[in-house]
Amino acid sequence: MAGPPVGPPSGAPADDGRASPNDAAPERETTPPGDTRERAGILFRLTGVGYEYAPGVEALAAVDLQIDRGERLAILGANGSGKSTLLKVLAGLAQPTQGTVEAFGERIDDGALKDEATAQRFRRRVGMVFQSADAQLFNPSVRDEVAFGPLHLDLPRAEIVARVEDTLAMLGLGALAERAPYNLSGGEKKKVALASVLSINPEVLMLDEPTNGLDPRTQEWLMELLEQLHGAGKTIVVATHQLDVLERMVDRAVVLGEDHRPAADGALADVLSDRDLLLSVNLIHEHAHHHGALLHSHPHAHPPGRERHAENQPEHRHRHGQGRGDGPGPDRAESREPAARDGATQ
Ligand SMILES: Nc1ncnc2c1ncn2[C@@H]1O[C@H](COP(=O)(O)OP(=O)(O)O)[C@@H](O)[C@H]1O
Ligand SMILES: [Mg+2]
Repeated sequence: MAGPPVGPPSGAPADDGRASPNDAAPERETTPPGDTRERAGILFRLTGVGYEYAPGVEALAAVDLQIDRGERLAILGANGSGKSTLLKVLAGLAQPTQGTVEAFGERIDDGALKDEATAQRFRRRVGMVFQSADAQLFNPSVRDEVAFGPLHLDLPRAEIVARVEDTLAMLGLGALAERAPYNLSGGEKKKVALASVLSINPEVLMLDEPTNGLDPRTQEWLMELLEQLHGAGKTIVVATHQLDVLERMVDRAVVLGEDHRPAADGALADVLSDRDLLLSVNLIHEHAHHHGALLHSHPHAHPPGRERHAENQPEHRHRHGQGRGDGPGPDRAESREPAARDGATQ
């Protein structure tokens, strides 16, 4: 496995600070003059955002959220709380049914995104890695997949080639460049999906359940990659229900409750230490145990990749083992469950 990258592809700085809308390199979207909000470092501002997939099928409600440039933010919540929907709203892939979204100082709504120039500008700045790589990959080869974004950016040919090669190298995908994405392994597909987004060199990277289904080494690799990208100036938003991977990935967490409303927004350490909060939103649950004659319970995080287990089980209690003297460790009962498939919930 290749080592971590050392920044964005060459010729594609994360933020070069230039401010001319007529810049010769149009992919380097820059701050429109006079845009005070973006100058202040506010990239996203959601106000009273709600989303219904159909009348009565609520996925988000009353979301007020501000994301600043360079932040690393997790969107946490139990299964079905609305994390993926919130990422789609932030990425301009879903229009809220209530409230407003501003991104880079502009209102982002259907009207704005129907304007070709606005939509293009927005999509260059915000890259989304879906939970399921299969949903993202559609080109005949890995190289084509990575080239797809840059080819649609009106870049000079040499720049496209350089970006593709740099990105392939950065993600250690050189040897797979001619392979068909659909028959790669899950972890390889995830890398290709990431590469296809990074070759566009977006300022903001959104990742939906990025560590789900990755083996430990690939998970470690991904965390190093995200650290490097953050160091190169990227803003990173990660949706996850896995608490054990967060400390290295983010600094701040927004928690969605099962009512699809924000339940907390604060420093990661504060959120993770708030046991009552985590219980109330079903990110941890209490297990009751027999230790000899003693029955006690303690909070318990859902282990990675067990999303189905978490579904529709608000604050349930169950017992490990059958009776007295059993005294198992907290994960023993769950460790007998079959592992969920990669990306099983989407
Ligand atoms: N395409 C869809 N059609 C209808 N309902 C959906 C769709 N996608 C998600 N939902 C519903 O919206 C809610 C939030 O879903 P989602 O954003 O996927 O949550 P999470 O990512 O936190 O698991 C859930 O109740 C889910 O069933
Ligand atoms: Mg989701």
